[in-house]
Amino acid sequence: MTSDFTGNVSGRSVPDRSSPTNIPHYLQATYWWAYIHPLGVRVFERQWLVNLILWGNYRRLCDAVLHGYEHKIKGRTLQIACAYGNLTPRLAEKIGADSELDVIDILPIQLDNLARKLGKDSATRLHCMDSTALKFPDQHFERVLLFFLLHEQPLAVRKKTLAEAMRVIRPGGTLTIVDYARPNRFNPMRYIMVPILALLEPYARDLWCEDIPSWLPHDANIKIVRRQGFFGGLYQLLTLRVG
Ligand SMILES: C[S@@+](CC[C@H](N)C(=O)[O-])C[C@H]1O[C@@H](n2cnc3c(N)ncnc32)[C@H](O)[C@@H]1O
Repeated sequence: MTSDFTGNVSGRSVPDRSSPTNIPHYLQATYWWAYIHPLGVRVFERQWLVNLILWGNYRRLCDAVLHGYEHKIKGRTLQIACAYGNLTPRLAEKIGADSELDVIDILPIQLDNLARKLGKDSATRLHCMDSTALKFPDQHFERVLLFFLLHEQPLAVRKKTLAEAMRVIRPGGTLTIVDYARPNRFNPMRYIMVPILALLEPYARDLWCEDIPSWLPHDANIKIVRRQGFFGGLYQLLTLRVG
C-alpha cells in the first residue's frame, strides 16, 4: 500500500470525513439503538452505564489495557472503533510527545461524540473508516487496540478486521484485544449471559467457542505475550506481538 491515507494533520480532533463509508448491515440491524441513533449516543455515553453493562468491570478492563502500555506511549497507536466512556481520553493522555494516536470508526456520530470527549485541543486524529478496509499503509503502527469490537461483528467481517489490524502493525508491534470470552465452569455468568447475548449480541457467543488467534490470517506470525481473564473468564485481554 502507499501512504496516501487521509489523515487529519491539523493536530485537532476533528473527524476526517473524506472517506465516507456505508453502514454495514450487522451494525444497522443489531446495534442501531446503541451506536447509530442520536438518542442512543446520548443515553449510552455515560461512564456508569457502560460500567453497568460490563458488570462493573469497565474501569478494570481499561486499566488493564493502559497499564500494559508504557507510561508515555511512543510511536504510532491506532484504536479501531470508538468506545463509550473515558478509555480513549485516558489513552490520549498517555501518548508521548512526538507520538501519535489515530482512532477510526465507521459512524460519524461516534467520531463526533469522541471529539467532544477529547476536547478541541487534542492532537488525536479521528477518521471515518471501516475496520475491514483501513486506509493506512502496511506496518504503519507500533500498536493497535481493539476494545469490544470483535464480538459485534459476524465471522467474515471479524476475520477481515483482524487481517487489517495485522497488516498495519509493524514487526515487533502489538495488537491488544479486549472482548468477551467463555466464562469459567462455575461462573454463574455462564448461564445469565446466554439469553442476554442471544437477544442483544448475536455474534458474541463465537468468542465463547473459539480462540481469537484462530481467526487470524493463516500466515500471521504472532506470539501471545499476554492473556488475562476477568470476572470469572467472561472477559479476556489478549496481547499479540507481531513477528
Ligand atoms: C468498539 S465497539 C464498543 C462497544 C462497547 N460497548 C463500548 O462502547 O465500550 C462499538 C463501535 O464500533 C464501531 N464499529 C462497528 N463496526 C465497525 C466497522 N466495521 N468499522 C469501524 N467501526 C465499527 C461502531 O460504530 C461503534 O462506535
